Amino acid sequence: MLTNDLDFRLEPRLTELYDEHKKRSAKIDWGYHEFLPWDKAMDFRRVPWDPSQVTLPPNIVVAIETALLTEVNLPWFTSHLAQTFRGSLTIIQDFVHTWTAEEDQHSNLLETYLLITRSVEPMRLHELHKMTVENGWEPDFHTPFETMVYTSLQELATMVFYNNVAKEANKHDPDLGRLLRRLAKDETLHYAFYRDVIKFHLQLEPNYCYYLGHVIKNFQMPGAVMPDFDDRMAIIAKEANYGPLEYFDQVLDVIIKYWDIENLRPIAPEAEKARLDILKYHARMKRVKERFMRSQ
Ligand SMILES: [Fe+2]
Ligand SMILES: [Fe+2]
Repeated sequence: MLTNDLDFRLEPRLTELYDEHKKRSAKIDWGYHEFLPWDKAMDFRRVPWDPSQVTLPPNIVVAIETALLTEVNLPWFTSHLAQTFRGSLTIIQDFVHTWTAEEDQHSNLLETYLLITRSVEPMRLHELHKMTVENGWEPDFHTPFETMVYTSLQELATMVFYNNVAKEANKHDPDLGRLLRRLAKDETLHYAFYRDVIKFHLQLEPNYCYYLGHVIKNFQMPGAVMPDFDDRMAIIAKEANYGPLEYFDQVLDVIIKYWDIENLRPIAPEAEKARLDILKYHARMKRVKERFMRSQ
């Protein structure tokens, strides 16, 4: 029978991976107070918000606001991970705790930046924030293995998003570029952990391929629950360096190669079929991308 739980035989290797993560993250530990332009802060009661105070271009504001509204749903991501890994490997439950503590300052950093720099109307931001958390997040997969596949893609996509937006943001506010690159470093370490958990499983048991396909083919950022998500992503794709092209080149293609899906040899026929489906999906996305490039 194909299992979709994590494999207990990998516990020692995953423990090493977790120790490595803690070492690397301790080296780059940071507090969000270090990355904010506090000199620009003004009391909203004394100096009320006015659109004339906004200095960033709208595309950058949309990108940062979208990132914030993704990060604010951390309570729901954590509750999904905690429920999913209950009864699974203890080491993964420990990682989820560390991960939550590291993620916890991401939304604080982005929100405080937006407020201090007066880049958004504070009451509107408050309402969006509240509405997004109230909507919550509920994925359509619930097994430990699939959840790890999802988090691998999601951390990589978030890392690429921050680095790409940073390039554009840096032209307007170097403080913002620096802050985004800092977030990207955290996401890089998270990605490395989840990615290798999956890699070890595929190496040990290629039949795990069976559980890759659904998540890879239906990947969506968890922010899809926020208001106007599609409009936001269209603006970011056009004007802030992160869209379907970047997703293909810097996320999908990278992960398919890293997990070496092309050379895995699962024994179970349904796992082999799933593997071929993923390769077909990858090839189709590549053609879509090339067609798009030619039309530019
Ligand atoms: Fe994050
Ligand atoms: Fe992360």
